[in-house]
Parts: sequence; structure tokens; C-alpha cells
Amino acid sequence: MYILGINFGHGASACLLKNGRLIAAIENEKLTRIKGQATFPFEAINYLMDLYKLNFDKLQAIAFGCKDISEFGYSITNLNKYLRNDSLISKMQGIFLDFYKFIFFRSDTSKKFKEVFYNSLKHRGFPIDKLIFYDHHECHAYSAYYPSPFNESFVLTADGRAIINH
Ligand SMILES: [Fe+2]
Repeated sequence: MYILGINFGHGASACLLKNGRLIAAIENEKLTRIKGQATFPFEAINYLMDLYKLNFDKLQAIAFGCKDISEFGYSITNLNKYLRNDSLISKMQGIFLDFYKFIFFRSDTSKKFKEVFYNSLKHRGFPIDKLIFYDHHECHAYSAYYPSPFNESFVLTADGRAIINH
């Protein structure tokens, strides 16, 4: 059984697990040759799926390292750029919503953000019912703990968002 892991935004990358073991991982920049590329890792996903001759039906789950897709604070403009850079209307919509958010500080555009996210992935054939979202810091902790030789560990995570979710 396969699980696809996705990291989008900075460090865009994908990994593949088979029966609970990591078998492959790649950053999008290695395929597009764009250093530090912030995007949704379509190229990395396609590469891994092609490498193991998989389609979405063969995936048990598609996992993201965040509990709520809007929690990363990406602008809708960026999300549109990552997910559907072919649509002028979607670009204009994103710019408008980000401007609205800028003017009315703290206005919640997360609902629209999620709508753009799910609709874009659905449009590209992703099985929405297989998407699973995990706590970001727990993902950091487990990614250090599981490959370690220790049975018990204390893990401290401190990334750029360390004060969130505590
Ligand atoms: Fe992080």
C-alpha cells in the first residue's frame, strides 16, 4: 500500500511510502532546475508516480504536513500561481482577495483559500477523499524520530512557525 506525501510552498517536494517505509523522495527543484522553487510539486509527484507506475487508485492516502491547508498563511495569489497559473480570472480573483485582506486586516479568507485549493486539485484529478492533514510540528518530530536508532526520544521542533499550535 502506497502513501504519497506532499510539501507545497517553499521546499516543494513529494515522497512515497510503501507499507509504512519511505521508498523515495524528491524536491521539485531537482526536476524543474529552478533553485529554491516555491510551488505545488506537480513535477515531483508525477516523477514518483511514473517511477513506481502508480495512479491515484493505488494510493491509500495523500498526506500533507499541516492540519489546515490555510494555516501556512500563503496568499491566495500565490496559491493560484502554484495550482492554476493558466487562468487570468483566477489570478485576478486572488489579487482582489489578497488586497481585501490587506485593507481589512485580519479578515478571514481561509474559506476561499480552501475552496481554491480543493477545486484546483479536484480539477487535476486528485482524489479529494484521500487527502489527510497532519500537525506540522508533529510531522517534523516524527521525521526525526522514526529514522533515528532510539526507541524513546524527546523531540524539540523550532521552525519558522514554532509558536503556532501550542
Ligand atoms: Fe516547518
